[in-house]
Amino acid sequence: MFTPARKKLLLAVLVLSFGVQTGLVYTDARSEPLSEAAREGRALWQAHACQTCHQFYGQGGFLGPDLTNAASRVDSTRLVSLFTVGSGQMPPLGFSDGETAAMAAFLREMDRPEIGRGELRMGTPGEGAGAQAAFERVIEAAVAAGEGTAAAADLAEVAAGFSAYRTRPCSACHFPFRDSPVGAPDLSLVAGSLASDSLDQVLAEGRPLMGMPPPVPPLDAADRDALMGFLEFLAANREQLEAATEALAADRSLDWGALPWWEFP
Ligand code: HEC
Ligand code: HEC
Repeated sequence: MFTPARKKLLLAVLVLSFGVQTGLVYTDARSEPLSEAAREGRALWQAHACQTCHQFYGQGGFLGPDLTNAASRVDSTRLVSLFTVGSGQMPPLGFSDGETAAMAAFLREMDRPEIGRGELRMGTPGEGAGAQAAFERVIEAAVAAGEGTAAAADLAEVAAGFSAYRTRPCSACHFPFRDSPVGAPDLSLVAGSLASDSLDQVLAEGRPLMGMPPPVPPLDAADRDALMGFLEFLAANREQLEAATEALAADRSLDWGALPWWEFP
């Protein structure tokens, strides 16, 4: 049995550790708090339980797409339509313009490619984490490096094709420099293996029966040309781009502390 003196000591230790723990929790510095508008968006996010269907940084439900990088992918016209009339299994929410703007701000501030990218949770856990972000940075750097050189005009087309690619959900299925677990082939090999008219057809219509949906929003002829330029660039520089992507993708871990603090008001 504890003597009264020991009980007092035990109590003091418990109270002290509670104090220290509380101090640690509440002084945990958040690098960048959310803006006023984004906090309104977060309140709507919580009120409508968006997370039951969507994920941020791998957390959440799986009926809808991962929204970690939705802000770089979904344009404002589509956001308005999503948040008013809905789309497919995404319910109509009837948001006002103000609510849509607040939600857009929240999505924008949660989208931090330098911290993490949303990834399909398939295959071996951890495999491929960060590869998409690394790939995007490598392409951006390659385009930037060509500025002012003779290759600049071609690289401008590559950049346009890359933009057409990353603003559609292609990377949900196609992974950089390898076939993905859902059977989407390595796109850096396509330009060498598929005739350009067949390629143009896939980009225009997808191959719905084989698991490749028609691109949304659709790719017009100029987008498809630019995308083909991007795929040719990948094929022509495959080795260097893959090595650079691997070098960048290694040693990445998600720094939760650096995320805008979205879970609690
Ligand atoms: C019942 C499940 C469900 C709920 C709840 C839900 N969504 Fe969705 N959401 C979906 C589905 C399914 C899609 C895909 C629809 C499509 O592509 O036609 C989607 C699509 C989206 C997209 C477009 C993503 C992209 O990459 O194209 C955004 C943005 C989005 N939802 C935001 C939200 C927000 C914000 C909320 C809460 C206010 C919310 N959703 C609530 C199911 C849901
Ligand atoms: C839902 C998953 C999914 C999405 C999203 C997707 N693809 Fe695909 N894609 C596939 C699959 C699966 C195949 C293989 C189809 C087959 O076997 O014929 C494929 C095939 C292709 C091919 C033909 C490759 C070849 O060698 O025959 C190209 C090119 C392509 N996709 C480009 C894209 C682009 C560009 C986007 C974005 C606009 C995109 N895909 C979005 C799943 C997807």
